[in-house]
Amino acid sequence: MKGLLLAGGHGTRLRPLTFTGNKHLLTIANKPMILYGLEHLRNAGITDMAVVLGPTREGIVELLGDGSDFGVRVSYIEQPEPKGIAHAVQLAERRMKGEPFVTYLGDNLLKQGAGAFVERFGRSGADCVIGVCAVRDPSRYGVVEMERGRVARAVEKPKNPKSNLALVGVYVFGPAVFEAVRKIAPSPRGELEITDAIQWLIDSGARVEAQEVTGWWKDTGTVEDLVEANRLVLDDLKHQVSGSVEDESNVHGRVSVGPDSVIKRGAEVRGPVIIGKGSVVGEGVYVGPYTSIGDRVVLKSGEVENSMIMDGCTIDTSERIVDSLIGPNSTVSSLGAARPKGKRLVVGAQSTVEL
Ligand code: DAU
Repeated sequence: MKGLLLAGGHGTRLRPLTFTGNKHLLTIANKPMILYGLEHLRNAGITDMAVVLGPTREGIVELLGDGSDFGVRVSYIEQPEPKGIAHAVQLAERRMKGEPFVTYLGDNLLKQGAGAFVERFGRSGADCVIGVCAVRDPSRYGVVEMERGRVARAVEKPKNPKSNLALVGVYVFGPAVFEAVRKIAPSPRGELEITDAIQWLIDSGARVEAQEVTGWWKDTGTVEDLVEANRLVLDDLKHQVSGSVEDESNVHGRVSVGPDSVIKRGAEVRGPVIIGKGSVVGEGVYVGPYTSIGDRVVLKSGEVENSMIMDGCTIDTSERIVDSLIGPNSTVSSLGAARPKGKRLVVGAQSTVEL
């Protein structure tokens, strides 16, 4: 079994964050998103994988290299234009060498990983196993209709969905999918849809089985999704202090403090909170639950809760930052001595925000 990890696309819904970098490198609980997918594939026993690179490829090759740092073998496939997930699959035909493979969308996070899907494929003898998850807003996703335990229909983002079962971004395919992706035509949004390839497989008599996910699933398409994914991952955070926690600071709950980071006296941190390397939580600063603080972040003053503050940021404010995402190397500061009140921020890389 091989892996195909998708890191292409434009990430338009995450602008301005994706103007300056690839969305798959945005960190969730301080880990680049793409590594969650890579680790899920590896934990499912897949050590040979191809990564699809799109127009904003910077940083992906630098991070993953040949995969050896992560215990896998990684090769790359270029997809200069995001012509669809099925198009990315088409480009991988030679690389998959007639073996079954897992296509994993690099912007998807799953608590359970990919193991159950791989197992189901091996056990069932199906031509394709797809992941499905019951959701409240199915029209945002590919939607699956089941009949007598089989997948009868798969429709991409239907306006009037006939079921609440969304297609999760993990698909196990046998080689039959390559004929499917050759046969389908671009959708109204101009992409070769993987959902249409799955429908083509069903129509041509292939066995397509659905495996419902256990635990949470998150497609990190929007900023709200990213903040929510951060919460879900931090729910499993382990308490671990490598840096220093000064006496007379207040640290409660599960907090991970990376090497060379310091929580100063008079600071208050309420977990789950992760703090990367070389960061400072200054005197009088409050960091509330479900917050990720990256590397080299300086929190000089202010309050932060349920937010993601990425590498190299400086926060020096009299305000309370909530439900926010601050891109790398940004500065948030206060001009006046206003009383703290909630502010919701979505800030791209290299920004300066004066509140
Ligand atoms: O997340 C699950 C959903 O993913 C499914 O329910 C849908 O059926 C499926 O079409 C897909 O929908 P999205 O609209 O969310 O796909 P998106 O364009 O966000 O791309 C998903 C991932 O695939 C993302 O990691 C980028 C990558 N990608 C996408 C395209 C269109 C590529 O590598 N190349 C591409 O051409």
